[in-house]
Amino acid sequence: MIVRKEINEDIDVIYLLQRTAFESADEALLVDNLRENCPYTLSLVAEDKNKVLGHIFFSRINFSKDPNFAMVALAPVAVLPEFRNDGVASALIKKAIEILTQEGQKAIFVLGEPDFYAKFGFVPTSYYQINCPFDVPKEFFMLLELEEDALSSFAGETPIYHKAFDALS
Ligand SMILES: CC(C)(COP(=O)(O)OP(=O)(O)OC[C@H]1O[C@@H](n2cnc3c(N)ncnc32)[C@H](O)[C@@H]1OP(=O)(O)O)[C@@H](O)C(=O)NCCC(=O)NCCS
Repeated sequence: MIVRKEINEDIDVIYLLQRTAFESADEALLVDNLRENCPYTLSLVAEDKNKVLGHIFFSRINFSKDPNFAMVALAPVAVLPEFRNDGVASALIKKAIEILTQEGQKAIFVLGEPDFYAKFGFVPTSYYQINCPFDVPKEFFMLLELEEDALSSFAGETPIYHKAFDALS
């Protein structure tokens, strides 16, 4: 299996994969919307024998205090049902961490299962006293600092997500 950046030919395949993985089309539409409208995105696919098994997507988010601070949200990640629990999502996340770090991005935020994301070093944002913009239990909002102490001056701040996320139910 290889993990690589999305190319144009993947776009329809990614839509179908996200549509299959989630109960509604919301996540598939979110990816299309962000790809078009967000100033920074990173889209990776996991592929085996020319079949795309999984997809992960990142988009720019901001702090109002410093709109140029380079940080991203991870959303969504999905793996085709028949290929789950075989390390596909883990491989996507690890490769993305490597690319984002090389690019000089400072942090990744994610809303997800704490036990899953803790494996990759994510911690609850409350550890940095960074607020959650969503109405969820706060342990589900997590982040991974890609540069040591990059977030130390953002206590009390709330990340601002792209408006495409407003359409998510
Ligand atoms: C979540 C998802 C991406 C995981 O993909 P995957 O390729 O099966 O993940 P991996 O094989 O790398 O990792 C599997 C591990 O994660 C755990 N895991 C998977 N989904 C989990 C979840 N929702 N909560 C907690 N743990 C989870 C598994 O139990 C397994 O644990 P183990 O390694 O200790 O055995 C996949 O189940 C999926 O596409 N789900 C539907 C879409 C979704 O909910 N996406 C996440 C929200 S954006």
